Amino acid sequence: MTDDITAESTDGIAAVFRELYGAQPDGVWAAPGRVNLIGEHTDYNDGFALPMALPQSVRLAARRRGDGVLRLHSAQSGGPAAELRADGLAPGAVTGWARYPAGVVWALTEAGHDVSGGADLHLDSTVPTGAGLSSSAALECAVAVALDELYGLGLAGPELARIAQRAENAFAGVPCGIMDQMASVCCTEGAALHLDSRTLGHRQVPFDLDGHGLRLLVIDTRVQHDLADGAYAGLRAGCERAAALLGLPALRDLPDEDLPAALAALPDRLVPLVRHVVTENARVTEAVARLTAGDPAALGPLLTAGHASLRDDYRVSCPETDLAVAGAVGAGALGARMTGGGFGGSVIALTPADRTDRVRAAVTRAFESAGHRPPAVLEAAPSRGATRLA
Ligand code: GLA
Repeated sequence: MTDDITAESTDGIAAVFRELYGAQPDGVWAAPGRVNLIGEHTDYNDGFALPMALPQSVRLAARRRGDGVLRLHSAQSGGPAAELRADGLAPGAVTGWARYPAGVVWALTEAGHDVSGGADLHLDSTVPTGAGLSSSAALECAVAVALDELYGLGLAGPELARIAQRAENAFAGVPCGIMDQMASVCCTEGAALHLDSRTLGHRQVPFDLDGHGLRLLVIDTRVQHDLADGAYAGLRAGCERAAALLGLPALRDLPDEDLPAALAALPDRLVPLVRHVVTENARVTEAVARLTAGDPAALGPLLTAGHASLRDDYRVSCPETDLAVAGAVGAGALGARMTGGGFGGSVIALTPADRTDRVRAAVTRAFESAGHRPPAVLEAAPSRGATRLA
């Protein structure tokens, strides 16, 4: 497993920066990808989630400029650095990966922060893209924390997460919630982040896999998901419509005990959406209670129940994620579920350490028999959020 966020070696990225820009970077920062343990499609309903940061991260070497030029380079895209004007950015004007870092500069400016001097940025990522592991949030958050420091803005973690989300929503055109950015900025090593998406209040909940003989497998189905394709926006709109019909600010405000009456009052097509969101928020609360009681193995059944709800009610799973979950649980995982937006992407499987090989092999075999490409399987430990490395 690549564990670059805990390896402090920053010489390589600084050397590439010097080669590209002919100067020393002012610093090197990193921001991680994430998996969500439970609380899916709850963030844009003002609800709760429980993500943890991955060891895989985006690293960024950066230097402040003073002439208004913004230069962007990514090791993954190669080619020459893109050159833009820091004060001349507008949604739609930048395409491809560069819209994420450019979007952060734009969102900071829009929020009244002066970053008009520009910067030179070189990014290098180990977060798999298109795997539902928040590679774009990691990119945005790395840029946000670096610019915050380079320009002495003094923004708190949740403010940086909001800036990063705004970049993704309004500049890159992806209607995501706040979970991925909050995870990338605010997670800490050894813990999951109990997030209240309404207030951005958050608490670190110890998640000690090793101490309990557990492993968390991340199974990338390699089915690419794309949140910009309209399905995510459609689900979000359905939830907002349901809340409006119920006279509530958001579905988070529907108490568990009022669920049956609410479901009876709603049009059929909104019923499964509301049932998922309300039961999923309850699963987050229960998951936090089980972790707080020192029983991480007890998360297992909640994960599997969460997957059933995403598959049958929210309908964002796909044959590959369903197969990975069934294969993992069938081979002895304590629980498994798709993680992230869905429509492909990754599955997490909470597994006793001595059964990981069996689970990996079973899922790989199931994919082979079904004629799917073999999945990519990683082991993940709860890692730290965005930080300065050098
Ligand atoms: C994507 C979005 C998040 C969240 C999840 C579903 O990852 O970026 O904001 O809505 O889907 O929980």
